[in-house]
Amino acid sequence: MLKGKNIILGISGGIAAYKSLSLIRLFIKSGASVKVVITQNGLEFTTLTTLETLSRQKVYSETFSDDNDYTTEHVSLTDWGDIFIVAPATANIIGKYACGIADDALSTSLMAFNKQIVFAPSMNSKMYDNFAVQQNLEKLIKQGVKIIEPSSGFLACGYEGKGRMEEPENILHYIERFFSQSATLKGKKVLVTAGPTYESIDPVRYIGNHSTGVMGFEIAREFAERNADVTLVTGPVKIKESHPNIKRVDVTTAEQMYDKCVNFFPDVDIAVMAAAVADYTVENVCDSKIKKEDNVPELKLKPTKDILAEMGKMKKNNQFIAGFALETDNEQKNAKKKLQQKNLDMIVINSLKDKGAGFNSKTNKITILDNNNRVTRYDLKEKNIVASDVVDYISKSINK
Ligand code: CTP
Repeated sequence: MLKGKNIILGISGGIAAYKSLSLIRLFIKSGASVKVVITQNGLEFTTLTTLETLSRQKVYSETFSDDNDYTTEHVSLTDWGDIFIVAPATANIIGKYACGIADDALSTSLMAFNKQIVFAPSMNSKMYDNFAVQQNLEKLIKQGVKIIEPSSGFLACGYEGKGRMEEPENILHYIERFFSQSATLKGKKVLVTAGPTYESIDPVRYIGNHSTGVMGFEIAREFAERNADVTLVTGPVKIKESHPNIKRVDVTTAEQMYDKCVNFFPDVDIAVMAAAVADYTVENVCDSKIKKEDNVPELKLKPTKDILAEMGKMKKNNQFIAGFALETDNEQKNAKKKLQQKNLDMIVINSLKDKGAGFNSKTNKITILDNNNRVTRYDLKEKNIVASDVVDYISKSINK
C-alpha cells in the first residue's frame, strides 16, 4: 500500500502515455498522492484536463508558466516527492537525463530530484536496442536509477519486440515493493565504513591499498534510499556523495577510523564494514621527508586495532554486524574464521580470483555467509546491484 506517499509521475511523449492514466488511478487507489510533470510532446498524447482530473492536482508542464508556484516549481515539486517515476520514458528523456540536459519541466525536475528515480522505458524495439539508448540506460543504472524493463510483445508501431512499457499493475506492484522494502529499514541507524586507510611513512609518503570505496558508498546509498539513517566513515576516496540520509565522516588512518567507529557503534542498529583497513601502521614515522641520500629506510610496522573485532566484542543482542572478507585463497574457510572470531552476523566474501570482482572493477561477485552457516552465492553484478543484494539480505535477517 502507498498510503501517505507522494509520487511524482513524469510523462514523456510516447503512445504509452495512455497507460499512465490508469497508473495515476492505481497510485491514488493505493493511497498515494500524485503530481504529474509532463513534456510538451507528452501533451500530444493526453490532455492537461484529463491528468488534472485524475490526479486531483495541478499538472506541471511549462518551466515559465504564470500558473507555477511562486517558488521555482521544479524545486518545490521535487522536495514534495518521495519517489519520481517516469512512465513512459522515451529514448529522448532517458538520453537527456543520462547526459545532464535540463531544458523543460520534466528534465529540470528530474535533475533537481535527489531521491529514488524510476524509469519505465517505452519505445520501438529497434530504438530500444540502439547503442546510445542502451549506453544511457547503463549509465543511469550505475547512478542508482531503477529501470522497469519494458516487456516484449506487439508494439503500437506494428513491430513485435521489446519496448512495450510495463503494464500499470506491474508498475504499481514494483513501487509498492520498493516502499515496503524501504519501510523495513526506516529510521534504522546504520554505520558503514568504506575506502582504504593511509598510514604515513613521512610527510610525503604513505602505505595504502587499492580500495576505491565504491562498494561501501553503494551500500551506504542503498540504506539511505531505504530511509535508514546512515553514518558513512570513509578513508581517502575520490567519490562525491550527497544524500540527505547520509552523514559522511572523512578519516585518513586506521586509528582515526577506529576512533570514529567505536564512538558511533553503541548507537547503531546495523554496522557494515566494507573498508579496506590497514592491518599495520608505521611505528617510526619520520617527521621530515626521508631523503634519497639518507640510508635505505627501514620501516618498523606495528599492528592496527581491528575495528570489526572490537565492535564484535561491544555488540549487543539487538545489533547486527556485517563484515567483508577479501580473499585470494580458501575463501570460504578464511571468511568463516573471520565471522566466528570477530563475532559477526554475516560476512560478504569477495574473491580476487573471480574475474570482474575486486578493487578497480565496476562489478563484483559475492558470496554471503551467515552465522547460521547459510551460504548464498550471487552472480557477477554491477556494484550498486550487489549493494542492493547485501542490504536485502540484512533487511530480511533483522526482520525475521
Ligand atoms: N577490518 C577492520 N579493521 C581492521 C582490519 C579489518 O575493521 N584493522 C575489517 C574490514 O573492514 C573487513 C573485515 O575486517 O570487514 C575483514 O578484513 P580483511 O582485510 O579481509 O581481513 P583481516 O581481518 O584484516 O585479515 P587478513 O588481512 O589476514 O585476511
